[in-house]
Amino acid sequence: MNLFEHISAAQSRLDSYICNYFSLPLDTDETVKSATFYSINNGGKRLRPFLVYTVGKLLGAKETDLDVAAAAIECIHSYSLVHDDLPAMDDDDLRRGKPTCHIAYDEAQAILAGDALQTLAFEFLSGHEFSVPAKQQIKMINTLAIASGLQGMVGGQALDISATDRSITIEELERIHRLKTGALLNCAIKLGALCALDVDESIMAALDSYGKNLGLAFQVQDDILDIEGDTSVLGKPQGSDIDNHKSTYPALLGLDGAKQRAHQFVDDALSALDKIPHNTDVLANLAKYIIERDH
Ligand code: IPE
Ligand code: IPE
Ligand code: MG
Ligand code: MG
Ligand code: MG
Repeated sequence: MNLFEHISAAQSRLDSYICNYFSLPLDTDETVKSATFYSINNGGKRLRPFLVYTVGKLLGAKETDLDVAAAAIECIHSYSLVHDDLPAMDDDDLRRGKPTCHIAYDEAQAILAGDALQTLAFEFLSGHEFSVPAKQQIKMINTLAIASGLQGMVGGQALDISATDRSITIEELERIHRLKTGALLNCAIKLGALCALDVDESIMAALDSYGKNLGLAFQVQDDILDIEGDTSVLGKPQGSDIDNHKSTYPALLGLDGAKQRAHQFVDDALSALDKIPHNTDVLANLAKYIIERDH
C-alpha cells in the first residue's frame, strides 16, 4: 500500500468507529448530538488516527485497541478546531469544506459540541477493555490529558492568542507550535505505542524525536498554506492568519525562510527514524508529505 492508501484505511476505520457510536440511542439533546457529530464526521484528513494506527501496527498492537485510541485523539483534535474557529478565537466560517460548527448551528452549540468531543475522547479511552495492562491504559489517558491541556494544545492556543498583534522571537513561536499542534501529533504516536507491549525505551525516544519534529513541520506548513493555499482546496479560509495578525513562521522568517525551516524539521524527523529497528517507510513518507501537501 502507498501512503494515501494507508491514510484512507485509517480514515475508514475512524469514520466507522465514530458513526457506530453516534448511531447508538444516546440519552441526550438532539441538537447538541447533531452539532457534535457534525464537527467530527466531516472529512478531516485523520492524520492523527493514521499515526496511531501506523505506530501501533509497527509495534504489534491490536487493531481494535488502536481504533479506540485513534477515535480519542481525533475527538480532541476536532474539538480544538471547533473552538479555534469561534468568533472569540480565529473567527473562521469554513472548516473541512463546510460551514464551521458555530455557523451551521450557533456559538452555544459549538462550545458544547467541543466540550462533548473532549469528554468523549476520555469516555472512549477509559471505557474500553484494552489487551494491554490497565497500567498502560491509565498512561494513555494521562498522556492524552497532558497533551490536550495547559501543557499542550490549550496552553499553545493561549500563547497563540497572546502573540497576536505583536512580534515575538522564533523561540517563542516554536514553543507555540510545539504546544498548540505538536503536542497532539506527538500524543497520537505515543498512544499507538502504548497500545503495544514491551516497547523499548530507545524506540520511544526515537519516536518522540520524530513526533516533535513532525509536529513543528506540520504547523509551519499550515502557516505556509494560509498564505499560498487555495480556500477551496484547504477547506478553510486562506489568509486567516494575516487577517488576524497572527505570529507565524512566514510572518517571522518570510516564505522562503519558513520553507527552509520546515525542510529542516522533516530532515530531523527522518534522522530520528533511522534509530528504529523496524520498517519505518510509511512514517518517513508521511514526514515528506507533510511539507508537500496542499491542504
Ligand atoms: C489543522 O489540522 C489544525 C492544525 C493543527 C494545524 P489538520 O490540517 O490536521 O486538519 P484536519 O483534521 O485535516 O481538518
Ligand atoms: C490551530 O492552529 C491549532 C489548533 C490547536 C486547533 P490554526 O489556527 O493555524 O489552525 P487552522 O489553520 O485554523 O486549522
Ligand atoms: Mg488558531
Ligand atoms: Mg485557526
Ligand atoms: Mg492555520
